[in-house]
Amino acid sequence: MLVLGIESSCDETGVALYDSERGLIAHALHSQIAMHAEYGGVVPELASRDHIRRIVPLLRDTVGRAGLPLAAIDAIAYTQGPGLSGALLVGCAFAEALGLSLGKPVLPVHHLEGHLLSPLLSADPPQFPFIALLVSGGHTQLMRVTGVGKYETLGETLDDAAGEAFDKSAKLLGLPYPGGAALSKLAETGDPARFDLPRPMLHSGDLNFSFSGLKTAVLNLVRQHGADDATTRADIARAFQEAIVEVLVKKSIQALKQTGLKTLVVAGGVGANRQLRQQLNQAMEKHRWRVHYPELEFCTDNGAMIALAGAMRLRAGSAAKPAGIFAVRPRWPLADLAG
Ligand code: KG4
Ligand code: ZN
Repeated sequence: MLVLGIESSCDETGVALYDSERGLIAHALHSQIAMHAEYGGVVPELASRDHIRRIVPLLRDTVGRAGLPLAAIDAIAYTQGPGLSGALLVGCAFAEALGLSLGKPVLPVHHLEGHLLSPLLSADPPQFPFIALLVSGGHTQLMRVTGVGKYETLGETLDDAAGEAFDKSAKLLGLPYPGGAALSKLAETGDPARFDLPRPMLHSGDLNFSFSGLKTAVLNLVRQHGADDATTRADIARAFQEAIVEVLVKKSIQALKQTGLKTLVVAGGVGANRQLRQQLNQAMEKHRWRVHYPELEFCTDNGAMIALAGAMRLRAGSAAKPAGIFAVRPRWPLADLAG
């Protein structure tokens, strides 16, 4: 079964073709980061307009690379939510219109389900059940995943998401939006011993997180020491990264111990963080557990994970619906997905 996937929930337009037998066939992505960087964050109206501009060329590109006619598509999966409503509407309306014109069914997909399943795109995919650490710009959750559509939230952030904490701290250090990757690069040259930041909720006894205090701690260091000196900036970045990575790693271990599961899957943009990967690898090796990451290009938003999630849902028995009547779900708790 050949599924076209369309992602437009935030600042990336992604289109992909996934075949349930052959895997990922082709994909194309346009990131709006450069456009939003000028404003220090995502401007929703600009995001929607850019999705409109990009979506047709990206579809042509994907189909062209695959060397397949549009008629070969069996179903169209698109991100219905959560995300920015205007941005979601572009992908949703486009997918529904395409479905209507081709006479193909459509399947609305939950964006986080796409992230959760994205490690299954890799050459060495994880087996169910597993614990998923979902760390993106908008979400931070630990989940028990027992199958497609079977997700139980074990803990989540009470305030800022991990990616949001990276981005806000990066901004305080004068780095351009979105600063997660840049902060992480800067942290590599920083001295981990110079500053010691709090590890929020490390001993809370549950699997929840809180990162807004960490960002405030970064603000205090910037106020005390200034952000003009490159060494100080790198040391602050390192202190922040040490703290957030320790919390993410320890809570992931706690989730594995608590559930007795032996496989961890990391998804979302912060999953690209090198220090997080190093420390998770070490911890998993020590406990003889397995850890899986999505390929780097599928850590952040993309169409491939949506096409995959659509194909897996169809294989697991979810029904696609006739195209034509639609709505987006900008706020859509993952727990609402029926098991
Ligand atoms: O998964 P994603 O595209 O976001 C949402 O769907 O919300 O991830 C984007 C987030 C941003 O906050 C970005 O700064 C962060 O992932 N990110 C990183 C790294 N690369 C991207 N954070 C830390 N280290 C990185 N290497
Ligand atoms: Zn995302």
